[in-house]
Amino acid sequence: MSSKLIAPSILAADFANLQRDIEMINNSDADWFHIDIMDGVFVPNISFGMPVLRDINKHASKPIDVHLMIVDPDRYIQTFADLGADILTVHYEACTHLHRTLQAIKDAGMKAGVALNPHTPTSLLEDVIRDIDLVCVMSVNPGFGGQKFIENTYDKVAALNSLIIRKGATTLIEIDGGVTNKNASQLIEKGADVLVAGSFVFKAENPVTTIKNLKSQII
Ligand code: DX5
Ligand code: ZN
Repeated sequence: MSSKLIAPSILAADFANLQRDIEMINNSDADWFHIDIMDGVFVPNISFGMPVLRDINKHASKPIDVHLMIVDPDRYIQTFADLGADILTVHYEACTHLHRTLQAIKDAGMKAGVALNPHTPTSLLEDVIRDIDLVCVMSVNPGFGGQKFIENTYDKVAALNSLIIRKGATTLIEIDGGVTNKNASQLIEKGADVLVAGSFVFKAENPVTTIKNLKSQII
């Protein structure tokens, strides 16, 4: 059994057929639902908000991994817990008091994640890594699906993996943006645990088979 996980990004789903796409994920080899929340301030795009997440949660039968691309995420921690988030990821660049934010996420009963923009070095997590359940390494600039994978991500994942081992942490490494069958194996070799895939899954002719193949590739 693989301990490596696939998290399809709902941002690439058909929002007019959202229940169909959620059931597809439920019945696939995917492990989590990845949900992108964008506020049009932290990133130059607005995705969807609370009512949509509430309805996704009604149908989703797998853990919900919420990626907040918003300023001042502390304001909404309890709201996302109430909406059914299992993992709540905030951006390093959006948190002045990151340690406090992580504690608040855990106190609300969720796993705590930190996302790093492509320019943010992993070394900045040195003093807080043992408090983080998941680091989301952005392999594109956040804000849009369907972008090109940034090659520096491989080195970044390797550096983060070393940091986690050196600190004796149990943090999962998630990769978000431009993930395909072309880079999946190499990302896993460098130490990734969770691969987010949006366009690669939802734009495929057969998403269920695409997920199955991607999963078997990373075992
Ligand atoms: C980008 C989002 C990603 C996005 C990934 O800001 O955080 O989760 O949906 O989409 P693809 O896999 O198409 O790059
Ligand atoms: Zn994301």
